[in-house]
Amino acid sequence: DLVYLNGAFLPADEARVSVFDRGFLFADSVYEVIPFYQGVGFRLQQHLDRLAYSLRAVRIQIDADWPGILNELVQRNGGGNLSVYLQISRGSAGSRTHAYDDAMAPTVFACCSPIQDIYARGADQVRGYTVIVTADLRWHRCDIKSTGLLPNILVLQQAREAGADEALLVRDGLLSEGTSCNLFLIRQGVIYTPKRSSEILGGTTRELILELAAEAGIPFQEVDIRPEALQDADEVWVSSSTRGVIPVLAIDGKPVADGQKGPLWRQMFDLFTRFQH
Ligand code: PDD
Repeated sequence: DLVYLNGAFLPADEARVSVFDRGFLFADSVYEVIPFYQGVGFRLQQHLDRLAYSLRAVRIQIDADWPGILNELVQRNGGGNLSVYLQISRGSAGSRTHAYDDAMAPTVFACCSPIQDIYARGADQVRGYTVIVTADLRWHRCDIKSTGLLPNILVLQQAREAGADEALLVRDGLLSEGTSCNLFLIRQGVIYTPKRSSEILGGTTRELILELAAEAGIPFQEVDIRPEALQDADEVWVSSSTRGVIPVLAIDGKPVADGQKGPLWRQMFDLFTRFQH
């Protein structure tokens, strides 16, 4: 498997980064996860727009031919269905100091790993999730795709130890999102999702769901959602690039409605499949 590091393609075990890299020391870095299906980036431009947003927000200055780099990485790894990880850290000053200067050269790292084409499977093949609801321990710039994921990891682990697949996060009495996915609640034919703010990541899959809903004439609202609303939801979904749109079948051990994949989820899954193929 070849990875990309600072201009070179090389075997993963030959890739070297300084121990003083600020990505390693401070999580002073941002990232993207982009699926490629049959060698082609899915919603690549949307991912690159969000990357530019994250870089600007943390003031890492870098200009690169991202599509060129990522496409070459994918080709050199045989194409097909791959999840591409791209990380840019502020770089290294050769010592550990909190303050940085703009002269530092960012460290660019990308790698990829095989994924399933989620849209090639039928809806019956999709495994629904069980989730827990718990406190959102993160900072207040969740709109930045930062590699500082310790709160996400601790809470996901808490979910796993409770036998669940994911955790839905609550801050100040409102649901934000999952530890690595956005959140949707369906009631009486309307899709509700938390509005974009610095409390959530603006998911590319979230955006696609709203686009597809608009085209299909399914009503949706971007609103504040209280955790109590989960109790009388008809359906709950989560979404991310590598997982697509996933039905949530149980929350804190209680089934969502009848505990089955809902009809609107099936319609949305269908819209995704037709969008992609
Ligand atoms: N996670 N919210 C959070 C906190 C996320 O980390 C992600 C993505 C999403 C969904 O964004 P998108 O639809 O653009 O993938 C929402 C990636 C996949 C990850 O961390 O691996």
